[in-house]
Amino acid sequence: MNKQNNTFLEWIDKRFPLVSTWKEHFTEYYAPKNFNFWYFFGSLALLVLVNQLVTGIFLTMSYKPDSSLAFASVEYIMRDVDYGWLIRYMHSTGASMFFVVVYLHMFRGMMYGSYRKPRELLWLIGMGIFFVLMSLAFTGYILPWGQMSYWGAQVIVSMFEAIPFVGETLHNWILGDFMLSDAALNRFFAYHVVTLPVLIVVLVFVHIIALHEVGSNNPDGIEIKENKNPQTKIPVDGIPFHPYYTVKDIFGVVIFLIVFCGIIFFAPEMGGYFLEHNNFIPADTLKTPDHIAPVWYFTPYYSMLRAVTVNFLWVDAKLWGVILMVAGVAVFCFLPWLDRSPVKSIRYKGPIFKFALTLFVISFFVLGWLGTQSPTPLYTLLAQIFSVIYFAFFILMPWYSKIDKTKPEPKRVTK
Ligand code: HEM
Repeated sequence: MNKQNNTFLEWIDKRFPLVSTWKEHFTEYYAPKNFNFWYFFGSLALLVLVNQLVTGIFLTMSYKPDSSLAFASVEYIMRDVDYGWLIRYMHSTGASMFFVVVYLHMFRGMMYGSYRKPRELLWLIGMGIFFVLMSLAFTGYILPWGQMSYWGAQVIVSMFEAIPFVGETLHNWILGDFMLSDAALNRFFAYHVVTLPVLIVVLVFVHIIALHEVGSNNPDGIEIKENKNPQTKIPVDGIPFHPYYTVKDIFGVVIFLIVFCGIIFFAPEMGGYFLEHNNFIPADTLKTPDHIAPVWYFTPYYSMLRAVTVNFLWVDAKLWGVILMVAGVAVFCFLPWLDRSPVKSIRYKGPIFKFALTLFVISFFVLGWLGTQSPTPLYTLLAQIFSVIYFAFFILMPWYSKIDKTKPEPKRVTK
């Protein structure tokens, strides 16, 4: 670095802690040296977040949040705005890929016990991000004002009506009307482009600060901070985040971009999974589509909503469905306190945990698939069975994680 650059940095540094922040979070942040590909998904989630923010700003320049203009403005973006189709497909594909990446990121946490002490708060902040992400996806999906936007939103907002006593008032208050209309479209637009993106950016920032406070976990689930070089005080199993992981993450980014571009250019609708066919029809408030299904990332929870068919304990089946659906997401928050295993990582956990996690993943996929289908008596029964398996994974965890036969953890990280 030449002298001029140095003096400029010094000038900045006297007024803002630039060099020390860079050191603390990059060159002197020591991450475990055994990260594998599962550790790509955090940085990929950041990449998708930036993609959504940038493409979203461009979409907002031509989109009209007015129920009589919204659908046509999206078609205008697709046909007349220069590269509008690319911006829109980057945003719609980005939404689905955000969930792919975040689901894999969470699954990594479940495999390696990243939610366990001392990372409970980090996990809870992650869950906060997940709730905001779901709200972002929901409010965004309403904006094109197609048949699925309209009727999908109708199903979700009508859930509030199931709440006893205050349900109807709450429903009307949320919509600003007695039915889903222009007033709701306008406010959902405001949430989608301002409130929720700001919230998610703040939460992601807090997430990283919390991560750097406790330090990263790793595939062995052992704490590298507990074994430091007595002279340097650097963890013996740690390597500087920059340049080692900044460079390694570029590899993940390249693979991700190949898949991302493949979808955008060759299958942007992904067979109706990323962009549903019914949403290419303008919203018709008088005609319910034959089959209403949310986008794939919501379908496991949608299956739970539909799984309850009987009134129970003076509570209406619909309200039980809503409770089960909310619980299906919220239950992840309790993981740090449900897992009683003496070890963190799946590498040293016993066969019962491995079996339970496999069953959980199967139930997640089956519920997801069932949620895309029209209900039949057989499908409803399957949704009930797999909902029980899904919840059993969490409810029985304090018991099976304790009796499971674990292997001893190594002192140092392995490959
Ligand atoms: C916008 C969404 C998110 C972004 C941008 C994000 C970003 C990151 C980044 C960059 C890391 C460090 C790299 C890595 O470990 O992969 C990380 C770690 C972590 N994240 Fe997230 N995250 C997001 C959502 C979530 C969610 C939904 C959860 C869980 C509910 C979560 C839980 C964690 C945990 C437990 C770690 C530490 C993992 C370990 O050290 O093994 N994150 N996150």
